[in-house]
Amino acid sequence: MRVLLTGGAGFIGTHTAVALAEHGHEPVVLDDLSNASEEAVRRAAAIAGLEIPLVVGDAGDAAVVGRAIADHGIEAVIHFAGLKAVGESVAQPLAYYRVNIGSAVATLEAMAAHGVDRFVFSSSATVYEQPGAGLREDAPVGIDLGNPYGRTKAMIEAIVADAAAADPALRAAVLRYFNPIGAHPSGEIGEDPKGVPNNLVPFLAQVAAGERASLRIFGDDYPTPDGTGVRDYIHVLDLAEGHVAALEALEPGVLVANLGTGRGGSVLEVLRAFEAAVGHDLPHEVVPRRPGDAAISTADPSRAHELLAWRATRTLDEAIADTWRWQQRNPRGFRG
Ligand code: WQD
Repeated sequence: MRVLLTGGAGFIGTHTAVALAEHGHEPVVLDDLSNASEEAVRRAAAIAGLEIPLVVGDAGDAAVVGRAIADHGIEAVIHFAGLKAVGESVAQPLAYYRVNIGSAVATLEAMAAHGVDRFVFSSSATVYEQPGAGLREDAPVGIDLGNPYGRTKAMIEAIVADAAAADPALRAAVLRYFNPIGAHPSGEIGEDPKGVPNNLVPFLAQVAAGERASLRIFGDDYPTPDGTGVRDYIHVLDLAEGHVAALEALEPGVLVANLGTGRGGSVLEVLRAFEAAVGHDLPHEVVPRRPGDAAISTADPSRAHELLAWRATRTLDEAIADTWRWQQRNPRGFRG
């Protein structure tokens, strides 16, 4: 299928474009490049061995999305476009509502106007009201969450459900990511955060590269085996393949599925994995907990296993090794 990836120049989008091509699909990227680079799409195309058209434009503008759909004969859309920094969303809530809600609505409107009825939405485990271990899709989801970013994801899930209720032809999947990490084994594409990384693995990669002095471990007094936070770290290639599986499994209605490994990794375990990859200790210090952090957040991925015939197969060590390769070869990300 010819698939439009809104926000497709980003970390998850580029890896998904490669996975789509590997499964015989034809990805087209629409991105305003506000938080991504054209080089990333070029490299994804080189890995995939086919041209990946890039439309530079605003996914919040239904006319722009509609033109991309018409110009490229689009048959399905995977919607990645949006702002995604939890802390930033607290400081700039209106921007998050405008961009995240606006781009989802504009994209769905453009699809309806052009008769495209296959839609995959990039959601997040952050929508769960109560983080915990083995989260199932029927766990409470709400907007009474810790941050506007998570609220936009929960609201867009509701928008997708309402759109599907109004249009029986709409085939939608809502994919709740846990903690995406890693990079393509070629070392050519990977996560390229702007500024100081909020997330553990990209920050640790910069500590390993000597760009950051030390890893601050946000609390070691959690009720977890080693006291540090536990998360479900999923290799970005597994995540990308989950999107292809969801696209190919679409049926009328909305399928909601967790994309996680079902296994937890602690901050200290991630640190040790990184030290093993780089071959020496990495500077770190324990500091107080980060407000809003949960002790543990891991998926029960059984619905995705059953309904998508998909399973994460890559290990934490593989993801860290792939991250380190990407970091070493691209110390300035795509900025060269
Ligand atoms: C992981 C663990 C921290 C940084 C966030 C978003 C979520 C999703 C993924 C988009 C926690 C600890 C972190 C550091 C640390 N993003 N940590 N020192 O918070 O689980 O999820 O990213 O959808 O929506 O909330 O990921 O990588 O920030 O934290 O000790 O410098 O690492 O306390 O236990 P998180 P994270």
